[in-house]
Amino acid sequence: MRLTDYEKAMLNGEHGEIRQQAIQALYDLATFYDVDRFVEIVGCHDDSTVYAGEAQVAFAEMLAEKGAKFAVPTTTNATACDINLWDRQKHDIEVMSATRRIEAAHVKMGAVPSWSCAPYHIGVAPSFGQQFASAESNVICYYNSIIGARTNRYAGPLELLCGIAGRVPYFGLHVPENRYAQGLVKLGEDIRPEYFTDESIFNLISYAYGSIVKDRVWAIDGMPTLGVTNEILKQFSATAASSGGIALFHMIGVTPEAQTLERAFGGKKPQEIVEIHLEDLANAERQITNPNVDELDAVVLGCPHASYNECVVVRDLFRGRRVNGNTRFWLITPRSVVDRLKDSGVYEELVCLGVEVYSDGCILEYRNKKLGTNTMMSNSGKFDTYCFSMRGLQPVFGSMKDCIESAIAGRVVKEAKPWRK
Ligand code: F3S
Repeated sequence: MRLTDYEKAMLNGEHGEIRQQAIQALYDLATFYDVDRFVEIVGCHDDSTVYAGEAQVAFAEMLAEKGAKFAVPTTTNATACDINLWDRQKHDIEVMSATRRIEAAHVKMGAVPSWSCAPYHIGVAPSFGQQFASAESNVICYYNSIIGARTNRYAGPLELLCGIAGRVPYFGLHVPENRYAQGLVKLGEDIRPEYFTDESIFNLISYAYGSIVKDRVWAIDGMPTLGVTNEILKQFSATAASSGGIALFHMIGVTPEAQTLERAFGGKKPQEIVEIHLEDLANAERQITNPNVDELDAVVLGCPHASYNECVVVRDLFRGRRVNGNTRFWLITPRSVVDRLKDSGVYEELVCLGVEVYSDGCILEYRNKKLGTNTMMSNSGKFDTYCFSMRGLQPVFGSMKDCIESAIAGRVVKEAKPWRK
């Protein structure tokens, strides 16, 4: 490998034992993939934060005790529970205790304590073209696609080592030539522009897109270019990363590396073109909805964590009505957003409506057996993709408006839509 003097010094242990071990692991990875150099990263999103067992906690503590420090600004992903309201969420004291140990170890290493899977909602994100390391799938897809920053789909805790070394092997999506689209998904004429006033259609298109594209780099054409908010693009990123393992997608006319078809494909022609139709959206919704669910035990929003704007929209959609007495309503948002909600009075308004506002935790760590909940509705294609296989929960997918109306009624309420005929 072609190494800089600094990288050689790291490998020789001149910058400490942990940095040496981190760069050695990355050197081995580079050798495996036949990569001839490292590239500097500007930041890292540390995904080794949801409690997965004692080995994970011990590893982080070992690094911290040996003096490991992140070489670049490093945000922290969601944890297993709300670090302060864990008992209200019915988490075991062991989970809280392990989470506190994870928190302490990562802060000791110099991480920015964001504890969120949506760090872009709190203003911490790389810029276009910057090299980065992340292992959280929605963050990877959002940073690559929406911002145009560059990260591979790292596996935790490898991204932790990237953050400590401040380097990644220069391969995969770090390299501009690998970022061009290979194939194209086109919207059929039966998916009409007026359907996009309901934001949930983006999730369904994303689910269909991910199912077709898998982990390749493709583009999608025919999407609206106006009114596509960060929140919509967040959901598109999270769902595509879950249904298909997408790390980078190009939305023609929307995402920065795809302002034109020619730009997205690097001047080449698509190798394959697939058209999707209303039936594919209907099929996507069937994949993430149990049609037999009527009464709802819970409605959950905030996968990925909700932005301040989304929390305000939730309040507004209630129009003064309250969550049904037989249904719980969880809203998960970054802790800095909770502070802002409290400052603006929106937090109290949400609480008065029966909304439980939490921060830090991953909603997939939901303790459904202890909470006695089995049927859940959300506006998240990612949550609804995983919640049955990981938690045994019966999912129902709907728009945010559907979710609020259902929470008030205590049963599934969905607007009629062309793909629901
Ligand atoms: Fe965040 Fe957990 Fe969803 S980490 S994106 S709430 S699965």
